[in-house]
Amino acid sequence: MKIFAVFGNPIKHSKSPIIHQLFAKQTGVLQNYKKICVPINGFYKIFFSFFKNGGIGANITIPFKKKAYKLCDILTERAKYSGVINTVKIINSKTILGDNTDGIGLLKDLQNLKFINPKSNILLIGAGGAAQGIIYPLIKFGCNITIINRTYENTKKIIKFFKNVKKINSFKLEDLFLFHNKFKYHLIINATSSSMKGNIPNIPSSIINPDIFCYDLFYNFNKTPFLKWCLIHGAKKISDGIGMLIEQAAYSFYLWHGIMPNTKIIIKKYKKYI
Ligand SMILES: NC(=O)c1ccc[n+]([C@@H]2O[C@H](COP(=O)([O-])OP(=O)(O)OC[C@H]3O[C@@H](n4cnc5c(N)ncnc54)[C@H](OP(=O)(O)O)[C@@H]3O)[C@@H](O)[C@H]2O)c1
Repeated sequence: MKIFAVFGNPIKHSKSPIIHQLFAKQTGVLQNYKKICVPINGFYKIFFSFFKNGGIGANITIPFKKKAYKLCDILTERAKYSGVINTVKIINSKTILGDNTDGIGLLKDLQNLKFINPKSNILLIGAGGAAQGIIYPLIKFGCNITIINRTYENTKKIIKFFKNVKKINSFKLEDLFLFHNKFKYHLIINATSSSMKGNIPNIPSSIINPDIFCYDLFYNFNKTPFLKWCLIHGAKKISDGIGMLIEQAAYSFYLWHGIMPNTKIIIKKYKKYI
């Protein structure tokens, strides 16, 4: 049986094995997909030993997406323009292909939800691997993106990576507090990992209003802390990242097997019990 895995730390919360099992059942593909918790300083060793021991493909999650990008021999276009990857596939014993399906998966979910149009002004909170990975498809779609992050140094690294892209800008967090009334955002995306520990990113609550779409990349059985906070401050249109998770997984599955699963059926079923 073909072996696949998701690498991350923490990884206990990951629903990727269940989703890939549903895809496999739906399409008749035989695969074994497992979670691997990687020690923070042990990524390179575990990554290469997985492929040496028969692994065919893997998903990469928090906090290894930038590290994995550097280990790939070839990249898809969307991975190259993102600078981070979330999917790898072994091509032969000497060649590993890297892809980024996070951005395309998010865009698909936002379109399904009718949360986005090509003129959307997006406030993107976070400057980690997930934030960086979703920028390219959203810009390509036509949107403008403002990035803010707890650590401004990390925002600057992303801005530097996208230095030739016009539709992206950033603020220091304190400047957002000073000048937020000057800007109108249509969509706010929480791409921080704050919800994982029950925290909320520090942003001015007056940005939230009944018309703004609020999206948390994190997903949980209950509403995420960020989405609860948005509702308290007047948001009416909210979503967690379960749809994105399923859509990005479908693009990974397609890369590995050449078959696109039907995500609509799974999103509909899955939202109820995840
Ligand atoms: N739904 C999906 O399919 C999907 C896909 C990918 C990722 N995700 C989710 O996206 C989140 C981010 O993942 P990642 O890979 O980007 O992680 P990462 O590379 O470790 O980056 C973490 C980001 O969160 C910020 N952060 C952490 N704790 C915070 C807090 N208490 N307040 C404010 N900011 C905080 C960090 O800010 P600093 O720079 O200041 O440290 C950084 O910007 C995770 O929750 C992950 O589960 C979901």
